[in-house]
Amino acid sequence: MTKPLRKVVFPVAGLGTRFLPATKVVAKEMLPVLDRPLIQYAVDEAVDAGADTLIFVTNRYKHAIADYFDKAYELEAKLAEKRKDELLALVQTVLPKHVRCVFVTQPEALGLGHAVLMAKPVVGNDEPFGVILPDDLIWNEGPGALRQMAKVAHDEDAGVIAVEEVPHEDTDKYGIVATDEAKGRSARIHHMVEKPKPADAPSNLAVVGRYVLPGRIFQLLEETTPGAGGEIQLTDAIDRLLKGDGKVLAHRFEGTRFDCGSKVGLVKATIHFALKDPKLAAAVHEAVAAGRA
Ligand code: G1P
Repeated sequence: MTKPLRKVVFPVAGLGTRFLPATKVVAKEMLPVLDRPLIQYAVDEAVDAGADTLIFVTNRYKHAIADYFDKAYELEAKLAEKRKDELLALVQTVLPKHVRCVFVTQPEALGLGHAVLMAKPVVGNDEPFGVILPDDLIWNEGPGALRQMAKVAHDEDAGVIAVEEVPHEDTDKYGIVATDEAKGRSARIHHMVEKPKPADAPSNLAVVGRYVLPGRIFQLLEETTPGAGGEIQLTDAIDRLLKGDGKVLAHRFEGTRFDCGSKVGLVKATIHFALKDPKLAAAVHEAVAAGRA
């Protein structure tokens, strides 16, 4: 895609039932990995990819996300008064100055495709945009996953979807792609299907929560009827794009994905980030080794 990626959509209207009772009051995107909420990792990745407009698709229960990115005057004044400069810098840099947030609501939970469609008035039809599902936390030493994908999208003039191999018995938890032969880390998708049973899955290459999509996907989303689970699926709209003349690549990103929509994934991510933190590594390593963590 010739235009640069400037806008990234974060569908954050989900209920987070897997983390009840915490998610009675805490948005699942606000659950922390160490001291940063999941949404912060997602936003950092979008900014790293060049985004300056972040669109949160939210609902009435998710005010904490807007509050988090808002200026906290009282807290900042108190930290300044107490000369807690490091902490002050921490709360002031959750978002770089050139980045703006837009909040749109998804009044009914009708599926991921429907959530993304809610961003249409902000994104428009004629520029590529990113989608990040904050549950999928991707760590990489080098450039973030979305940045890697934005480069491929630009160089190849195509949509790009992050994929990784999953155990064959797990295909019914993911969007699954069928591709042509890979060139390097990318392969052209010719078909994709949402949550197929293992027996029906065209491969075990699963969609991970990162997409770079052309603006014209919105029209296809508008025409998409409920699919798997009775929901309007992003996968189905992309599949229709492929059935036209759409070029979409599956990209095996560099990095490690943690499924923070699950308890095990959130624990794994926490241990991973703790072991990367020089101040925590030794103590956490010792605790894990001793079976105390
Ligand atoms: C969504 C998508 C699915 C994708 C997954 C990645 O499913 O619909 O295609 O593989 O995210 O996390 P969900 O996990 O919201 O059911």
